[in-house]
Amino acid sequence: MAEVIQGTRAFNPSTRAGIQFSEEALKTIEALMKRYPEGKHKSALLPVLHVAQAEADGWLSPEVMDYVAELMKLQPIEVYEVASFYSMYNLKPVGKCVLEVCRTSSCWTRGAEDVVDYIGKKLNIREGETTADGMFTLKTVECLGACGGAPMLQCGAEYHENLTEAKIDSLIERYRAEGRRKCYTDLDYQNTK
Ligand code: FES
Repeated sequence: MAEVIQGTRAFNPSTRAGIQFSEEALKTIEALMKRYPEGKHKSALLPVLHVAQAEADGWLSPEVMDYVAELMKLQPIEVYEVASFYSMYNLKPVGKCVLEVCRTSSCWTRGAEDVVDYIGKKLNIREGETTADGMFTLKTVECLGACGGAPMLQCGAEYHENLTEAKIDSLIERYRAEGRRKCYTDLDYQNTK
């Protein structure tokens, strides 16, 4: 395969050959697929991609998507088209904490632009960029369904609502102190095991 997926880079067969998810991730993926009837396991693709992203430093390279396609017995294009549609999947390397600021109506009218500006200045990055230490990426996304708490942002499985500069300072400080990657799989996956 030599095609380049939008927003990513060319497929590298030797990188693909070296991909192996952890036992725990493989068990979780198997359990997610078993939730659906025979032949309908493609329905598990969204949560499986969250697991894949957590296993692969927070982003889905063409090689990781190809690996997922093999695990799920899907065509690679079926994985690419889903991964490239949703903003929650990253098709290029990102920081450990991806700050996804909602920019849709409720958040926009309640200061989303100021939130983006404040975070950008504080971390010295622009939208779409990652800090030099690899800790934070700033991203804007469409409505995250927490309009009542506008303006808000998501980082991994955590929602931060009614944002103020003080709240942003505090969450960035906490994430720095924790120093670990924030993933959607930080949600409780116990019921898949
Ligand atoms: S508009 Fe921001 S969460 Fe809905």
